[in-house]
Amino acid sequence: MVTEDTHGLGYQRVDDDPNVEVLVATMEGTAQWEATRRLRSWERGQLGLTSGQRLLDVGCGLGEAALVLAEDLGDRGAVVGIDASEQMLGVARINARSAPCPVRFTVGDACALDEPDDSFDAARSERTLQWLADPAAAVAEMVRVVRPGGRISLIDTDWSTFTIDVGDDVLAALVHDAMRTERHRPSNIGRRLHDLVRAAGCIPLARTEATQTWTSWDPDQSSAPLGCFSMESLADDLVASDRLASADREGFVSTIHDAARRGRFSMRLTMFAVVSGVNADPH
Ligand SMILES: C[S@@+](CC[C@H](N)C(=O)[O-])C[C@H]1O[C@@H](n2cnc3c(N)ncnc32)[C@H](O)[C@@H]1O
Repeated sequence: MVTEDTHGLGYQRVDDDPNVEVLVATMEGTAQWEATRRLRSWERGQLGLTSGQRLLDVGCGLGEAALVLAEDLGDRGAVVGIDASEQMLGVARINARSAPCPVRFTVGDACALDEPDDSFDAARSERTLQWLADPAAAVAEMVRVVRPGGRISLIDTDWSTFTIDVGDDVLAALVHDAMRTERHRPSNIGRRLHDLVRAAGCIPLARTEATQTWTSWDPDQSSAPLGCFSMESLADDLVASDRLASADREGFVSTIHDAARRGRFSMRLTMFAVVSGVNADPH
């Protein structure tokens, strides 16, 4: 599951991953994060979708966020979710069975949307830009398909904010330094969302952030903190980036696990969000 360019879990090619169920389950976990719930609720207020409007979700994953927003669209509205993963979309289609408006979940590439210009009132993308080689191209595509005056919402994690505290400062610094380094993917894109939409010619209307905090975890009950990677895969990633000797891998994992068993465990991660308006003449 671990590749050189991910921190344990990789969402670039979900359908090729032998642990696809873990990737799906992790998305179900992240949907339960307090930070995710807060940002999605904030986004809903900022988008202010109304009956009859059309919404696009780019990298929709399991579709839960789009399906909540569908409640604002009425039966004359429509939701389109695109994702690179047929496996993710399969779950999204099941989740959509009682949707209040027509929903189409379809395979697509965020950087080359198969949708006409100006065909949506709003587009959103959550925690997908961080997996793309060219996030600006994806934002440009969102701008292209949203009508002038429509809105674009971006939510993404900034992995440079990730910290772990198990009472070991050396371990904490090791993890923090590793997470701050972007390797082959824009893992710190959360903090750049505002610049990204401005560069795409949009007008940022509102921005916010939320920090997910884990204050307890029982490693004997679940292999990883809710919605997060396992400490084994974090250690593998550190070894792959030459920050941890493979001989120290087991000690790294057991230090964290033992601390968590004693209740001496916390982790923090900040996510950012920006909602923007699409200019009258964006193309
Ligand atoms: C971390 S998940 C986030 C899913 C969902 N937006 C959420 O917040 O729950 C990232 C999603 O982006 C999708 N993805 C990755 N690369 C993509 C691409 N080039 N085009 C479209 N979707 C992509 C993955 O398949 C995955 O479902």
